[in-house]
Amino acid sequence: MRSAYGDFFNHDDEADGYDRLVQNDQDPIRTGYRDVLRWVIQEARIDATSRVLELGSGTGNLSALIGACSELVCVDLSERMEAIAKPKLTHLARRRFIKADILEVFSFEVGRFDSVISSYAVHHLTPDEKHRLFHCLPTVLVSGSRAVFGDLMLQNAEERGTKIEEYLAKRDRSTAEAIGEEFFWQLDSTVTELTKLGFEVSSKRFSHLSYGLVATWQG
Ligand SMILES: C[S@@+](CC[C@H](N)C(=O)[O-])C[C@H]1O[C@@H](n2cnc3c(N)ncnc32)[C@H](O)[C@@H]1O
Repeated sequence: MRSAYGDFFNHDDEADGYDRLVQNDQDPIRTGYRDVLRWVIQEARIDATSRVLELGSGTGNLSALIGACSELVCVDLSERMEAIAKPKLTHLARRRFIKADILEVFSFEVGRFDSVISSYAVHHLTPDEKHRLFHCLPTVLVSGSRAVFGDLMLQNAEERGTKIEEYLAKRDRSTAEAIGEEFFWQLDSTVTELTKLGFEVSSKRFSHLSYGLVATWQG
């Protein structure tokens, strides 16, 4: 299965300027970016024996923070983002890039992972597609292993409405449109859903628009 908007959110056209854009901490979408990435890696508890799956790997800024692992599998639709990622990740000897949709990869023979990591990618999936992703995670995790996400998230639907109003009032139309048109996670329902599936969940807020979330598989 492929996500409905994968082709639209494929970052091939944004690749050249991406690493400059994410440095702009004044942009509400980017605020806390580096802290979020560092936190994801810290919470993923990766060591030299870990097999790691990264969803929406982009220009490699997240996996560049991994010190060592036994194998890293990166998934993204954008070859141009991957071309920028590759030279940053030469310290990770066993690394494989799969050009695929985040949802599609679960139907491939990729094996089991000690950690699944992802930053600023899953908000490109619709709520139903996130639901499908959460159902797929146990098929690649081992008991006690973690999926760690850092992404654009809001507490719930009410906060989504409030934030759109807030940014419109500040004449920041681009942030208001991003909240309205992309699929920022809704934390409350996500925690409920993951807990029902058998994950232990914790979260941390990083900015007005971003959270980190750890889902530990109890199965
Ligand atoms: C905002 S960038 C984030 C990149 C990187 N993880 C980071 O933190 O900087 C989103 C990435 O997800 C990829 N992407 C978007 N939708 C996707 C999908 N459905 N399947 C695979 N990759 C996707 C884009 O091509 C892009 O590289």
